Amino acid sequence: MTVSKHPSSLTVRLDSPLKTMEFGQLLAKALTDGSILALTGELGSGKTQFTRGIGVGLGVPEEQITSPTFTLIQEYPSSPPLIHVDLYRLETPGEIGSLGLVEYFQEPYIVIIEWAERMHDALPTDHLCLEFVYGEQQDTRIVSIHGAGPKSQTAVDRIQTLLSHEGQHTFPQVNH
Ligand SMILES: Nc1ncnc2c1ncn2[C@@H]1O[C@H](COP(=O)(O)OP(=O)(O)OP(=O)(O)O)[C@@H](O)[C@H]1O
Ligand SMILES: [Mg+2]
Repeated sequence: MTVSKHPSSLTVRLDSPLKTMEFGQLLAKALTDGSILALTGELGSGKTQFTRGIGVGLGVPEEQITSPTFTLIQEYPSSPPLIHVDLYRLETPGEIGSLGLVEYFQEPYIVIIEWAERMHDALPTDHLCLEFVYGEQQDTRIVSIHGAGPKSQTAVDRIQTLLSHEGQHTFPQVNH
């Protein structure tokens, strides 16, 4: 296993859609009430598939988790409650304010945001950044995780511990 030079970031290779979902399930164990996950990456890079894993990890039936295309925000009745935001169809940055996201940026919610770069200024300082890119093989994706702020850096440490205990073969770590 290659340990990242930066303790508050890590990069993992996900070799199939199922692995991406399972990685979400693993990562859900590292989250706490109030966690915010900012997902970036081009179309089809696996953001929704990963979100399914987070949802399943928090107890939401898999088939209930789809992209919140029309509403932009979807709330799932998990414990803690999961808020799934997809900003792909955001028309103007000014629309962010009217979404009422601010009320979710607090305990007990866990908020996961696809196309998070579209609200970068409006994101709370402490959040997990997850960048998805295509790997060399058709069904491979690479995800880099970085903790911005102390709470998220602690979450990255927990993810690292979970990976070394149960995931180092399933989710190989790669150099940035
Ligand atoms: N390793 C992988 N991880 C995730 N998805 C994969 C992987 N390999 C292939 N895929 C496929 O890539 C697609 C990923 O779709 P997904 O909806 O998760 O992407 P997305 O990043 O949410 O895209 P969008 O920006 O359109 O919302 C799915 O069709 C999935 O089957
Ligand atoms: Mg998506």
